[in-house]
Amino acid sequence: MTWNGRDIIRIGDLKREEIETLFNKAKEMKERENVHTLSGKISVFAFFEPSTRTRMSFQAAVHKLDGDVLSITRPEASSLAKGETLADTIKVLDGYGDCLIIRHQFEGTARVAANIADVPVINAGDGQYHHPTQAMLDLFSIHEFFGRIDGLTIGMIGDLKYARTIFSLFNGLQLFSPSMIYLISPPKLGIREELRNRIEEYQNCTIVQDTQEVIEELDVLYVTRLQKERFPDPLEFKRVKGTYQVDLPLLKQGKDTLKVLHPLPRTDEISREVDESSYAAYFKQARNGIPVRMALLSLIMEGKEN
Ligand code: NCD
Repeated sequence: MTWNGRDIIRIGDLKREEIETLFNKAKEMKERENVHTLSGKISVFAFFEPSTRTRMSFQAAVHKLDGDVLSITRPEASSLAKGETLADTIKVLDGYGDCLIIRHQFEGTARVAANIADVPVINAGDGQYHHPTQAMLDLFSIHEFFGRIDGLTIGMIGDLKYARTIFSLFNGLQLFSPSMIYLISPPKLGIREELRNRIEEYQNCTIVQDTQEVIEELDVLYVTRLQKERFPDPLEFKRVKGTYQVDLPLLKQGKDTLKVLHPLPRTDEISREVDESSYAAYFKQARNGIPVRMALLSLIMEGKEN
């Protein structure tokens, strides 16, 4: 499969070699000024859910590649508010640009959009499962910090039930050979059935209840916030709120080289004192959103075989 013209819906649709091509391209993007691969091209942003990092880093990436952006970021100000179907909106946007970047609260929206649109569709997060470009930048960041992903021990803590970044990174890690992935699941935030079933297929994954159990082994601790908006019952959210926190005394029990990643936004799950420590990698990780998305857009829209 070539990159050119490709839809990006799930990280698991990619192969390891393709992710490595992306890493190399992203590294190149970090070093180069004046890249014009999107010159004369329009990227259409259809964001139906709040976003800061994903939207703005995609936008920055388009600008840095000399392209233009058209966007729906307030669905209430678009014709959807007049009763237009999403399918019709997608059909129209398809005719306005050279690629469509979509975020939506419902699982499967990006796939539906890709079936409707002729231009390449990039999933910027849909529902509770897929956020492939976040997984790309998470993998890139881990690779940048350690020079590899194979052989690392990675802990993932937080909302294992509803966080699509966990599901996507987990799937992305399966393209590599980490020595162990610990899914750290506080009681009541247990992993969804589908992921639990898949875990049984993998030798390199273990579910534990408390970070203390594994902190000494970890190279990476990937933290997510509680996905408040995805809890069907607000009482369920109240019950689990504040049940986990990553702070300096915890991290000091780990390796000196331990890195804490977080897709952001953070609420209260990483204490602020961690920000100034050598463990904090999340702001650097967020910055990597730009070169990784520049690389992705270039590979998809450059117009030559990759
Ligand atoms: C994530 C998302 O939208 O899933 N944010 C992001 O893209 N960086 C994580 C989150 O909202 O918690």
